Amino acid sequence: MKQERIRNFSIIAHIDHGKSTLADRMLEYTDTLTKREMQDQYLDNMELERERGITIKLQSVTMNYTAQDGLGYFLNVIDTPGHVDFNYEVSRSLQACEGVLLVIDACQGIEAQTLANIYLAVEQDLEIIPVINKIDLPNADVDKVKRELEEIVGIDGDEAILASAKDGTGITEVLESIVQRIPPPEGRDDEHLKALIFDSYYDTYRGVITYLKVVSGSLTSNMKIEMMQTGKKFDVSEVGILNPTPKKVDALTAGDVGFMAASIKDVKDSRVGDTITSADKPAPEPLPGYKQVKPMVYCGLFPTEGEDYEDLRDALDKLQLNDSSLVYEQENSVALGFGFRCGFLGLLHMEIIQERLEREYNITLVTTAPNVVYRVKKVDEEEIIDVENPTYLPPRNEIEAIYEPMVRANFMVPQDYIGPVMELCQEKRGIYETMEYLDSLRVMLKYKLPLSEIVYDFFDLLKSRTRGYASFDYELLGYEEAKLVKVDILVNKEPVDALSFIVHEDKAYYKGRQLADKLREMLPRQMFDIPVQAAIGNKVIARETVKALKKNVLAKCYGGDVTRKRKLLEKQKEGKQRMKQIGKVDIPQEAFMAVLSID
Ligand code: GTP
Repeated sequence: MKQERIRNFSIIAHIDHGKSTLADRMLEYTDTLTKREMQDQYLDNMELERERGITIKLQSVTMNYTAQDGLGYFLNVIDTPGHVDFNYEVSRSLQACEGVLLVIDACQGIEAQTLANIYLAVEQDLEIIPVINKIDLPNADVDKVKRELEEIVGIDGDEAILASAKDGTGITEVLESIVQRIPPPEGRDDEHLKALIFDSYYDTYRGVITYLKVVSGSLTSNMKIEMMQTGKKFDVSEVGILNPTPKKVDALTAGDVGFMAASIKDVKDSRVGDTITSADKPAPEPLPGYKQVKPMVYCGLFPTEGEDYEDLRDALDKLQLNDSSLVYEQENSVALGFGFRCGFLGLLHMEIIQERLEREYNITLVTTAPNVVYRVKKVDEEEIIDVENPTYLPPRNEIEAIYEPMVRANFMVPQDYIGPVMELCQEKRGIYETMEYLDSLRVMLKYKLPLSEIVYDFFDLLKSRTRGYASFDYELLGYEEAKLVKVDILVNKEPVDALSFIVHEDKAYYKGRQLADKLREMLPRQMFDIPVQAAIGNKVIARETVKALKKNVLAKCYGGDVTRKRKLLEKQKEGKQRMKQIGKVDIPQEAFMAVLSID
């Protein structure tokens, strides 16, 4: 029976531990791709992913493998993104699997982020095959990684496969273990159709392509299906597998992983985590665990050139076709004009979208500092409102309470760096929870922290204070009340709405002063003095002055050297591109992010 020969698995690894390289090697060993056909790292195919060397979106591929028992198997690998921003996608793609390969860099060992994903796999009762990768490197320490596996994950270190995805060592062993150790999928063809969506993307010609695993029943072309969360119905036009290019099949049956096209126009109708069933014979209930992903971080995106506004809207429209977690709505800033307030899963997601807008759509942007979503209860009102933009925080006297999102952060820290990590958490309003020794050298620290404190520079600070030895990840806990205020910034007496930020009362004065000081350094000098003020409500809490300029820029060129003059003007023009004029003052892009660089 075919189902007996199916193996569905994911690869879990910390960033850069070699997941994509290992996947490539398996594609090559199973002749799914020949070496010649193989573009380096087939699974990471977005240009930006390639450049940054991180996996962002999921890809799944079916490999045909003839095992040493002489039988042919279908190995479905489901690639997972390795970053916390995409945690929900990881958890859903794991649900489409019966096992995982856990790839660990032999020089780096297990890191906190790997742990979070391993725990997801353990929770879902998946078979875990540890692969210690990069054993070709001279500083590989296999014994250490084996010990970590035992002490931290609770897996027998001797079960690990020693591999080098680079030179091909251990790859056959990996393939054989997948066949022998990972169980075939369960679920029966003659039951109601339930298929789990773990990814979807927009194709200009065929509409949305949905990647899915059939958990039970069968999915055929020409059938009518229903999305169980949205209730929407569609006619299936095509089903198939990726081998590694799309290959049509008549039906996908229980246990199969593949794709479906059904003239769906909008990725929002093909949501990751939703269950597909038959519209004529629907399953009584969907697969468990669905949740709608909500953006956690917001920022304003404004075109530097006002006339690019429509282009920016078109570009966001196009990006959203493929990314249902990206949300945006028109925003009108007094300071920056027309733009959009956009919501992202996290900071990495935000950076990726910004970069794609600039690179693929050629739009220069002024972006405002990212902020989280606050909740506000107004005096005498029952309803609690979401505040996605600091500008729209109601005046202080109308607020009864403000709530901010909290996370639990797990740190894996070498003993020597416990102090600096605790200090950092303290500075960031962290609340200590527990500390646990993982082995003789490392501890797992748990802190409760406000999300707003980690969306800025937290990761960089952690890395620099622990020389890169600490790793961390976080999970969302919910909202808690906090004493927060909005700080406004006035440049030349005019409030610049895009510079307003929300901060804890205790830090408001300090941050207001620091930002005013930073802005003083950043704002180009003019022929007149420019006051820069920070204020809470009507109360000014800090004031700095950008001193008037005495000479003009060209003065030092003596009117002599024309090329030099041109160069200077050119340079000035370039600088201008990313400036926004507020009243009589030009504010450079950096100023809008300055709040991020205050510690
Ligand atoms: P993400 O896509 O960000 O999750 O990273 P990844 O885990 O897919 O890592 P990737 O496969 O891109 O490998 C990271 C780096 O390690 C690349 O420069 C690879 O060439 C290198 N690498 C991978 N496997 C090996 C190995 O076995 N030996 C050596 N020496 N280098 C390796």
